[in-house]
Amino acid sequence: MVDMDTLVSLCKRRGFIFQSSEIYGGINGFWDFGPLGVELKRRIKESWWKKMVRERDDVVGIDTSIIAHPQTWVASGHVDSFRDPMVDCKSCKRRFRADDMPESKNAKGKCPECNGDLTEARQFNLMFQTNVGAEVSKTSTAYLRPETCQSIFTQFKNVQIVSRKKIPFGIAQIGKAFRNEITPRNFIFRSREFEQMEMEFFCHSDESSKWFEYWVSERFNWFKSLGIKEDKLKLRKHKKDELAHYAKACTDVEYDMPFGTSEMEGIADRSTYDLNQHMKVSGKDLAYFNEATKERFVPAVIETSVGVDRTCLAVLADAYREEEVKDEKRVVMGFSPAIAPIQVAVFPLSAKLADKAKTIHLELQKHFASEFDSVGSIGKRYRRHDEVGTPYCVTYDFQSEEDHSVTIRDRDTMEQERIPIDNLKEYLNKNFSKFD
Ligand code: GAP
Repeated sequence: MVDMDTLVSLCKRRGFIFQSSEIYGGINGFWDFGPLGVELKRRIKESWWKKMVRERDDVVGIDTSIIAHPQTWVASGHVDSFRDPMVDCKSCKRRFRADDMPESKNAKGKCPECNGDLTEARQFNLMFQTNVGAEVSKTSTAYLRPETCQSIFTQFKNVQIVSRKKIPFGIAQIGKAFRNEITPRNFIFRSREFEQMEMEFFCHSDESSKWFEYWVSERFNWFKSLGIKEDKLKLRKHKKDELAHYAKACTDVEYDMPFGTSEMEGIADRSTYDLNQHMKVSGKDLAYFNEATKERFVPAVIETSVGVDRTCLAVLADAYREEEVKDEKRVVMGFSPAIAPIQVAVFPLSAKLADKAKTIHLELQKHFASEFDSVGSIGKRYRRHDEVGTPYCVTYDFQSEEDHSVTIRDRDTMEQERIPIDNLKEYLNKNFSKFD
């Protein structure tokens, strides 16, 4: 398995992910996605949206504001209890999450870095605060959302009415979330600004267990559809004492990251807790009336909540491989063509052939993520595209002038085939459709 230093360095070198504000020395817990990273992220989000919204009749999407009415976070419990215990080292001034400390160190109250004395644990609220409006006062305090789901709950009634959906149905959203994590770490795994893809499925309490099982299996299959190796994926059922007070059940999808098996997604039976809380705090009725049975009830919620950045990291770590080819090391990012940032690259063999090759690229670009690459030897161009995970490279050579054919090279087998230029689109479509 790739180690994190190698992966972070490849991500920077090839333009997947940079440290945020690098020229100012960076800012801990924030990351920028480069030209290839943004494509990869988009593909992951598109795949999720397609699977969770477009291809279903029982889920609709929304896109809500990052800053919501502050009462939202009172109702959700975040103002009072979205906290981690924090300790500081009196000598080196480093800060730690008390619950992250090795037990022996914690008990002794000694710093894991310098063995200095630690302060008592203090509770630290992870929500970022800001002020809305010109005056800074107690009432101007607002929060950057720490999760995207709360606006799904507060907009439940509006969405249900306008979409004319009957229960059971779900509401999905992709968006940024912010948490002032005490110890952001492991690259983009735990950061202070990240993206979530959340879906809240509203159903009758009597059916929540059935839907919970259904969504656990759907979500596990989605990770496989990204091309992630199945033996690296796990489902972990939370024990009773691990569950949040409102949750009836929770199962995580985990991936074997280079730093250990880690949570990618949580699927939770949140019962009727969220809608009940928002009804209580807002005074508005969010209950549902079933016309057929004449029953009025507060729906239970099955939540699926996954981080875009964590999924990106799993995809990157999973795709990395090194191979020996004729005494040389070849680094390959074996992305599934379904999510590869560049799906096909077009090379002219010589500068003289650039115009003709460019025409092919411009045509392919209408249908695929295509890149035109004329820099360096063909061998070097292959290596570069192996390292960014381009599944196919097309070379236009002198023979192409005569036979209107090109060479197409497969990233994984390195085998080359000669095919007519007119068949390129069909060839690629056929090979990519296997991964839809
Ligand atoms: N609405 C439920 C919720 O937010 P969570 O377990 O706190 O539950 C859900 O977060 C997912 O969001 C996690 O499984 C993870 O993928 C992602 N996530 C949470 N905190 C994160 C962080 N600091 N950095 C990156 N991703 C994070």
